[in-house]
Amino acid sequence: MNIAVIGTGYVGLVSAACFADLGHVVIGMDIDKKKIRLIQSGCSPIYEPSLEEVLKRGLQSGRLSFTTDLKKALKESTVVFSAVATPPNKDFSADLKNIFVVCENIATIVDHDIVFVQKSTVPIGTGTECEKRIEKILKKRGEHFRIPVISNPEFLREGCAVSDTMKPDRIVIGINKDDTYAQLVMEEIYKPITRVGKPLLVMNRESAEVVKYASNAFLATKISFVNMFTELCEQKGANIRDIARGMGLDERIGPRFLHAGIGYGGSCFPKDVKALIALSRELCLPFPIINAVHDINENQRKRFAKQILKALPPKATVAVWGLSFKPKTDDMREAPSIEIIHAILEHENVVRAYDPVAMPNAKKNLPKNVTFASSPLHAAKHADVVVLLTEWDIFRGMNLNELKKTMKGRHLFDGRNVYDPEEVKEAGLIYHGIGL
Ligand SMILES: NC(=O)c1ccc[n+]([C@@H]2O[C@H](COP(=O)([O-])OP(=O)(O)OC[C@H]3O[C@@H](n4cnc5c(N)ncnc54)[C@H](O)[C@@H]3O)[C@@H](O)[C@H]2O)c1
Repeated sequence: MNIAVIGTGYVGLVSAACFADLGHVVIGMDIDKKKIRLIQSGCSPIYEPSLEEVLKRGLQSGRLSFTTDLKKALKESTVVFSAVATPPNKDFSADLKNIFVVCENIATIVDHDIVFVQKSTVPIGTGTECEKRIEKILKKRGEHFRIPVISNPEFLREGCAVSDTMKPDRIVIGINKDDTYAQLVMEEIYKPITRVGKPLLVMNRESAEVVKYASNAFLATKISFVNMFTELCEQKGANIRDIARGMGLDERIGPRFLHAGIGYGGSCFPKDVKALIALSRELCLPFPIINAVHDINENQRKRFAKQILKALPPKATVAVWGLSFKPKTDDMREAPSIEIIHAILEHENVVRAYDPVAMPNAKKNLPKNVTFASSPLHAAKHADVVVLLTEWDIFRGMNLNELKKTMKGRHLFDGRNVYDPEEVKEAGLIYHGIGL
C-alpha cells in the first residue's frame, strides 16, 4: 500500500517508520524543514527507544522517504494519515487548527481518490467537520474525488511507541456510510498486525473518536483515584503503597496505573482530560469524575511543591532528578517538573537539574537560571535538598550513602515513591514520599 503520513512528530514519525517496516511504501511529510532534514539523514528528532533503528532500516530499504512538499506526498498515495498536534486551548478545548489546515490543503491539492485517516486525537464530530470542509473545496474545484474520512485513533505510549505500534492491544477504525472500500484499505494496511491475532475493531466514526478520550480519561482516573488517598495516608499514618497493592491484587481492579505520586503529565492525559471538560461545558453534560481527575492531578503537584518549600533553608540549592514527564522519553510537554521548578525558583533558590535524555528539551522549557548537571551526583553536590520527579532507572539504583556524603542537607523528596523509606533513613537522609 502507498501511504502518506502528514506530521512527523511522536505519532507520525513512529507510524511512518513502522508502516514501512511492515512492508508498505511510505512518505512522511512535515512543515518543519529542519525536522525533515534530520529525519532524512536517519536521525530521530525525538528520543524513542529503537525508533532510529526502524527509521534507518526504512530509509535503506527505499520504502520510506520524507518531504516537506504535500503535493509530492499525495502523488502516489492511496491513503493519507494525518498525525498533527491538537494542543489544548486556554479554555481547555482541543485546538483543531492544524487538523483543518491539513484536510483543507489535501482537498485543494489532491488529484485522485484518497482515503483520509485521522490519527490525531480529536473531539467527537471532527471527522464530520473535516468531511464537510473537504467536500466544500472539491465542489469549488469542480472535482468529484472520493475522499472518505476515517478515524483511526492512536494508542501508543511514548517510551515504547515502536513496540506499541507493532503489537497494539487493539486497532480501532471508525467508518461512516458503510464505506467498504475504505474499510478494505484499512484492513489491508493493518494485515501484518491482525494476522498475528491483534484485534481490529470497526465502529462508527463518532465512537472511534470517543474511544481514545475515554481510554485516556480512564487511565488518568486510576492515577488520580489513588492520589486522592495520599493526603489521608499522610495525615492518618496509612501507607499508599500497601493500599494500592491491596487494591491492585483484585483482578477486577488490576495493579497498573495505581502508583501514587506527583500525578500525570505529558502531551496526552492532561490535554485529553481538559478536552473532555471543555466538551462537557459546551454540551452542558455533567462529567463530574473528569473534573475531579483534573483537580486532583493539579493539586498533587502543588502540594508536593509546598512540602519542598517548607523544608528549604533560605536561598537553598535544590537538585532536581528527572525532568521529562515520564521515563524513556525526552518529552517535556506538561511535565510536572516545569511547575515544581518554577515554584522552587520563586523564593531565591537555585535549581541544578539532571535528566538522562530530556535536558536539551528542558532547556527550552525551563527558566534560564536553571543549571544542568552531568550526573545525578553532580546535581546533588552540596545540595540542601534532592527532589526526584521522574522515575528513570538510574535514580532507582542510586547509592544513598554516597548521596548523603555528596549533599549538604539531608532532605530527599521522592515524587514517584521509588525508594524504600527505611533505606533512606539508614543512609542518614530524611525521606519525603507521597502518601507514606
Ligand atoms: N505523543 C503521544 O504519545 C500520542 C499518543 C497517542 C495520540 N497522540 C495524538 O496524536 C497527535 C499528534 O501528537 P504528537 O505527539 O505526535 O504531536 P507532535 O507535536 O510531536 O507532532 C506533530 C507534527 O505535526 C507537524 N505539523 C503541524 N502542522 C502541520 C501541517 N499543516 N502539515 C504537516 N505537518 C504539520 C508538526 O511540525 C509536528 O512535527 C495529537 O492529536 C495527539 O494527541 C499522541
